[in-house]
Amino acid sequence: MCGIVGYIGKQDTTKFLLDGLKELEYRGYDSAGIALLNDEKIDVFKALGKLKNLSEKVESAKLSKYEIGIGHTRWATHGKPTELNAHPHLGEYSYVVHNGIIENYKELKEELIKAGHNFVSQTDTEVIVHLFENFQNKLNDTTEAFKNTITKLEGAFSILLISKADPSKIFFFKHGSPLIIAKGNEKGEVLFSSSDAPLIGLSNEVVYLEDGVGGIASADSIEFFSDDYSWSTLPSSKQFAQKDGFRFFMEKEIYEQSSVVSDCMLGRIQDNEISFDEIDESILEGIKEIKICACGTSYHAGLTSSYLFERLSKVKCSIEVASEFRYKEPLLTKDTLFIVISQSGETADTLEALKMAKKAGLKSLVICNVDNSSMTRTADYTILTRAGIEKGVASTKAFSTQATVLWMLALYFAKINDSISSEKLQKELHALREVPKSLIIDDKIHEKTKRLSKRYLHGHGFFFIGRDVFFPLALEGALKLKEISYLHAEGYPSGEMKHGPIALADPELFTIALMPQNLLYDKIKSNVEELSARDSTICSISPLEFELSDDFIKTQKTDHYMLEFFEMLVVLQLFSMEISIRLGNDVDMPRNLAKSVTVE
Ligand code: AGP
Repeated sequence: MCGIVGYIGKQDTTKFLLDGLKELEYRGYDSAGIALLNDEKIDVFKALGKLKNLSEKVESAKLSKYEIGIGHTRWATHGKPTELNAHPHLGEYSYVVHNGIIENYKELKEELIKAGHNFVSQTDTEVIVHLFENFQNKLNDTTEAFKNTITKLEGAFSILLISKADPSKIFFFKHGSPLIIAKGNEKGEVLFSSSDAPLIGLSNEVVYLEDGVGGIASADSIEFFSDDYSWSTLPSSKQFAQKDGFRFFMEKEIYEQSSVVSDCMLGRIQDNEISFDEIDESILEGIKEIKICACGTSYHAGLTSSYLFERLSKVKCSIEVASEFRYKEPLLTKDTLFIVISQSGETADTLEALKMAKKAGLKSLVICNVDNSSMTRTADYTILTRAGIEKGVASTKAFSTQATVLWMLALYFAKINDSISSEKLQKELHALREVPKSLIIDDKIHEKTKRLSKRYLHGHGFFFIGRDVFFPLALEGALKLKEISYLHAEGYPSGEMKHGPIALADPELFTIALMPQNLLYDKIKSNVEELSARDSTICSISPLEFELSDDFIKTQKTDHYMLEFFEMLVVLQLFSMEISIRLGNDVDMPRNLAKSVTVE
């Protein structure tokens, strides 16, 4: 989830770029950079960490006047956060900034190296500028060179490119990640940004570019390559803009899940099999067991994957809460692959568990959303979830991207172990590709959770129940509710209710029942009937009508239980959020909680 800005005009180019990147800070970043162009030369500045590191470099450079510039804040997806990997990326005489993932960057890079181009970074982005110059050197026509470049790229790419070959222009294209072009308030001024916050107050006319729309901007004109665009106005408040119009960052992040899970899968489902840049088949050499360790929501993602590793990869799998694991004097054997899961990569208990496993000589893998975090620097292998910054303390898109990576990993291991037929693998891959669609929110579903939430603001507690992977999902639903509504809730395996908890059943006890059609439906149905018979108030979430439920949220019929899993996840997230809003709580920063628990 990177941030992009661009400027053409006679005002202070450097100031617009740095101020713009500051406005995009909320999108998260690990490094930043700007490139400035005037007829004679291109200057570029990059810095790791805080934006002030970049500003200090620029301010000390005593710059002359530039009329064109581009800037970027990076959230690493390919290549560690380093200055070399920071954008803008340089060819011989051009710079590019990019938001998204180039799926076919490896083959492009090989072709370009053969053609004599020298690469300095580990990023996928760098192929763009070398590809442009490769075409420009042959065609000597920057427009054609840019158009040819775009047609060769696969994946998600919103880009701004500047070049000494045409120093009065910015070349732009939008595909996947957001990009806005704006007419500045001053004559001949053109502004670019990946969200509207940096543009507010500086422009009245913008185009929120659609996928596949690009063009060339200069002080004299803005030329679009297609007619698929329309001019509109900007919101008035920056705070409103940073949340992209949503009420809370949590709401924005729930709605972002479909697109970030698409990013999470980009380049990893290749020619009908799973592949990860970050690992190879040797990761499973000598491995007989998987042990997973995590906390909170990440633990729930891990528990979900424990079912998939045994069912699909046929590898024994156990999972522990990190705060318990670190003091239990665990028996660790070197034939165990130790997987830790963490959004932040900084959770103290999980980090300590990872260090214990390393000390015991186990192979370690971290599934993480933040590159260059303590855990990614400690583990032998890292797979990034590419969720972009998660501002809401209650984790949402981190969970859905973790679950997606872990499902892909289970299929990757299944292929290595030859534990899955190619027919079954195709079915799983087909379902996997459908996940982003399952995460798209139907207004009717959101409206239903909003309406229902008024009935669930009291009572003496909630049970969230489910079976198999819907048990960790029930745990996650209960955690979401606890975290942001402060109402008591428990996640429970539905088969366990009769072993005691059912004693709590009465009309004031709310049961949220996860009833997938494709997995143990009859079993969960009979558990819910037991509760209904004891007068518990039941809200069932299912593709199938259930006549005994007091409330019912109908989900879509699909042919795979994991698609039901992701759709029900969104229902649970929205349900908790709407209850929290009705109770007047701070949805994004609930009481007593921190986004990353870096202490015991
Ligand atoms: C989830 O909504 C919570 N914010 C919390 O449980 C969180 O998942 C847990 O602290 C683990 O954090 P991590 O994923 O950054 O390690």
